[in-house]
Parts: sequence; C-alpha cells; structure tokens
Amino acid sequence: MIQDILHLRAPEGSWINDPNGLIYYKGKYHLFFQHFPYAPEWGTMHWGHAVSTDLIHWEHLPVALFPTKEYDKNGVFSGCAVEKDEQLYFYYTAVKYLETDPENIHRAAGDRYETSQALMTSKDGFHFDNWKDKRQVITCGVFGLDANARDPKVWRYHDEWYMILGGTDGGRAAQVTFCKSRDGIQWEYVNRYRNARYGRILECPDIFCVDGDYIFLGSGMYLMDDGENYASQALCVPAVFEEGSCSLQLPEQYHYIDYGLDLYAPQTNLDAQGRRFMIAWMRMPEAVEDRWNGMMCLPRLVEIREGQIFFPVHPSVADAFSKKVPDLEQLDGDMPYRIRVTMKNGERLNIGGYQIWIWDDCLRTDRSHVFPVKGEGCRRASTPPLCGKYELDIFVDRQIIEIYVNGGQYVLSHIVYGLGQNIQGRIESVWQM
Ligand code: FRU
Repeated sequence: MIQDILHLRAPEGSWINDPNGLIYYKGKYHLFFQHFPYAPEWGTMHWGHAVSTDLIHWEHLPVALFPTKEYDKNGVFSGCAVEKDEQLYFYYTAVKYLETDPENIHRAAGDRYETSQALMTSKDGFHFDNWKDKRQVITCGVFGLDANARDPKVWRYHDEWYMILGGTDGGRAAQVTFCKSRDGIQWEYVNRYRNARYGRILECPDIFCVDGDYIFLGSGMYLMDDGENYASQALCVPAVFEEGSCSLQLPEQYHYIDYGLDLYAPQTNLDAQGRRFMIAWMRMPEAVEDRWNGMMCLPRLVEIREGQIFFPVHPSVADAFSKKVPDLEQLDGDMPYRIRVTMKNGERLNIGGYQIWIWDDCLRTDRSHVFPVKGEGCRRASTPPLCGKYELDIFVDRQIIEIYVNGGQYVLSHIVYGLGQNIQGRIESVWQM
C-alpha cells in the first residue's frame, strides 16, 4: 500500500495531472486524478484514486476509471463526482482519437479527436465496473459543443442537476456551457458564456457559492505568451451568477489562484464541515530522477473576505504541524516543516537555496538555485502589493514550497528540485508534524 503524507504525488513510474472527482463521501475524502500509469509522462488518461480521512494521509488505491468503450478508448479526461441516490456519479470527458500517432498511440495525430461527456457510477466509491457502469450522456456535436468541450463539473440546484463544461468559441475565446438534467442522464442545454480575456480555451471550470457570493475558477489556455511562464494559468474571480438560468457575468480583470504560476486545474468541493475547499495540480517541468511526475498542492479553503477571494491552507494541515521545533539544530529537514514569520520591507529569507524577500510592498521569490531545469517554468515570482502586511506561513516539503501570505490573501507555491537544508534569515517559529 502506498501512502503519501501531506502532498499527494504520482506513484513511482507514473504521471499525474488534474484532480478529479474530489468528494467527501461516507467518512472519507476521495481524490481521483488524471493518471498515466506506465511512464512519468502524459499519455492515455486513466483516473488514479486515493483516499484520506484527514486530508493529510493519502492511501493510493487501484486505478478507478480507464478506457473500455469505443467513445473513451483514448482517454478518461477530467471530471467530477456527485452523490446521488447513495451512489457516486462520476462525470468525465471521454476521448476518442480520429487518428492515432503511429509512433505514440497515446497521442492523436494532427490533434484530430472527438470528445463526449460520460457517466460512470459506483455503489461505494471503491468498486468500479468500467464495462457495465459507464454510459455516454452528452455526445459530440450536440448543443453546439465541439471537440474542445471538456471537464464537466456538476452540482445540485433545487430539484435539478446542473453542469458547467469548459471549451472554446472557435479557438478564439474561452467559453463555458451550462446544461441541466432531472435524472443526471438526459441533459439539456441551458446557457453559454464566452470571454476572450480568459484565454482561448477554458479548462476545468468551477462555479459555486460561498456565504452568498459566487466564485468562478477556471484554467485559461494561452493566457501568457512571455515564453517564461506556463502559457496556461488557473484564475479566480468573484462572479455574478443566476442559478436556474445560468446567466453568468465575470469581471474583465482576474486574479491568479496561485502566484507561483505552477498550479493548474483546481477542483473544489465541500469538506466534512461543509466548507468549500480546493486541491490543484502542481505542474513539474521534468520527472523527479526520471521516476515520477506531478503532485497536488495542499488543500486550501476558498473564502471571500471584503470582496477578495482568499485561499487559506486547510485547517487540518495547519493543525497537523503541532510540534514546535525549539531551535533550527533540531529541525529534521528531511521531513515537512512549516515556518512562520512576519517580514519587513527589504528583509530576506533563504530556505535551502530558495530566496524569499519583500520589496516594493510585494512578496518576491527566486528559485533559480533549486530549479535546474530547462524549458517552461519561471524562476522568479511575486504577489500583488500587500499594503504593508507581510505575514508568511511557509510549508516546505520534498519538491515543493507553499507560501501563504496574510492568512491566504495570496498564495505563492513553487516546485523545487534539490532543495538544501540550510535556512538563513530571521524566522519566528518552525513546526513539524
Ligand atoms: C487540464 C486538462 C483538461 C483535460 C485533462 C487531460 O490540465 O487539459 O482539460 O481534461 O487535462 O489530461
């Protein structure tokens, strides 16, 4: 049995990306994820599966969903889970290539593929019959949906089920489509929203209400073209949304969900206490020692405070770091640790080669020394201005540093390779699990 503590990682020899089907169900958190079990690179998508009772200890389980049908023979793409009639209903995007790359059957030739939306059910969240319990629910081409329609997120409103799907308006503008259903099987078109400011294709859309305010999350493709950062980025905005008619209005200006710009494809649901929380994929530009690629960020709550969206670390993570380390000599740098410090303008901190400082009212970081990687992934990052308040809560674990600023006002997380054990600079306290 593989157990991950704190951060969920791709199992040895494999690849993971987006979280899927995140749900608290019968006393356990189920986290599924995009998974290629055979090599640490993206390929024909399966849904990997892990469960946890506390969002800290993750037990990996056998692959849950995998291709068995003509319509999903080239991949079980991202989707969600809902509980219906005591069962789990998983909605996902089914992928079928119109032509495969003869040198790599895990890729479509010339980007020629077809997608549809499919449903898989499970009686208990542990047993999956990929032959008997699947059906296609939204075929390709209906409701004006093209091959880029993907990543269904489903919720209940009054007596009906609603779905938001990502996609594009002809490759020019990000677009989402809303559908609804009485039984979760027959779906009808409800509404559509497009906005070129949110990228050319919108992946993994999510919309929900927190304390009376709507929040929209999405991952926009081709948002950045500076050649430095990943071109596609996950963003968040307060939304004006009318459930029922699914009329949506989004502001022109968005925020990043994480200012490290590695985070992508977030998914939310309610935790055991009914709070909205989020987990997302942390992109890695190369496999760790050629062995595994991809991990999840720490679970974060999603809150609105005075009109701004906050992502504080989930309380179960904060609580897990219960042992105060009396001095740095006694810190076990091979295990995860948490540093707390309120910084001053101009002050610097160096965590094993990862540089953190405050300048011009922003938190700034530089990972050049712990990111010996060619290709995508920027080395420097910064938050928006912080109005003179610099309370940092820093979680350090193998391959990753997550910095929560001012209780989640902004978060800046980075993948790192070969982090050292030396800590230089003033800190207020260090904690371990
Ligand atoms: C986002 C994404 C989704 C898709 C999945 C495929 O990272 O591209 O849109 O369903 O990954 O693995």
